[in-house]
Amino acid sequence: MEQNLEQEIMSMPRIGDAAPEFEAVTTQGNIRFPSDLNGSWVILFSHPADFTPVCTSEFMTFATMESKFAEANCKLVGLSIDGLYSHIAWLRTIKEKIEYKGMKDVEVNFPLIEDIKMDVAKKYGMIQPNEDSTKAVRAVFFIDPKGIIRSIIYYPLSLGRNFDELYRVIIALQAADKFGVATPADWRPGDDVIIGPAGSCGTAKERMEDREIDCKDWFFCTKKLDKDTVLNEVLNKV
Ligand code: BEZ
Repeated sequence: MEQNLEQEIMSMPRIGDAAPEFEAVTTQGNIRFPSDLNGSWVILFSHPADFTPVCTSEFMTFATMESKFAEANCKLVGLSIDGLYSHIAWLRTIKEKIEYKGMKDVEVNFPLIEDIKMDVAKKYGMIQPNEDSTKAVRAVFFIDPKGIIRSIIYYPLSLGRNFDELYRVIIALQAADKFGVATPADWRPGDDVIIGPAGSCGTAKERMEDREIDCKDWFFCTKKLDKDTVLNEVLNKV
């Protein structure tokens, strides 16, 4: 592979980076990313190709959950290396013809970016040539309201994503920000959260004596965080 192209493909944004900027055409009009979406959380995700089965199952699932993500102030933006007319035809076919796992008449209302030249896919490290050099892998970027990348998940072509997990990530990231905590393995709203390590022996001792804090040892302390408190803070109650 030509070295410049390889370098372009290999460059990947990382957690903590500002989301790379781009302008693109989508099924919902032009987009200037991420500035058009500032103030919202955003999931930017890629799929390998229109008119393919795993991607179809994913789009139906994501579109069905869109209002749940909207309640968490999170917008969805899809991308593949297909043209606009392919996107439009595929999404129309999904709405008119596909019934899957009880989902039917599914309308995809979030923007789907056309990226025939792979400009955006390359900027976001979505082309992983040893998997496929002409299709994007299933990348998921979680971007906060200030345009900072907060989490990244990649899946190969053959593996459909778990959208409950993507929703869990959005809620957990926001809970961590709002309450200044970390979330343990498999955390869900209502589960105990982790408080940061004690900065000194004094703080550690205070924590061990605090009845609200449960310290398994000096480095591993949790506290209760009520489910309603989390959801009231994170979800836009209409
Ligand atoms: C699919 O979405 O079904 C798919 C797309 C590309 C490669 C393999 C599967």
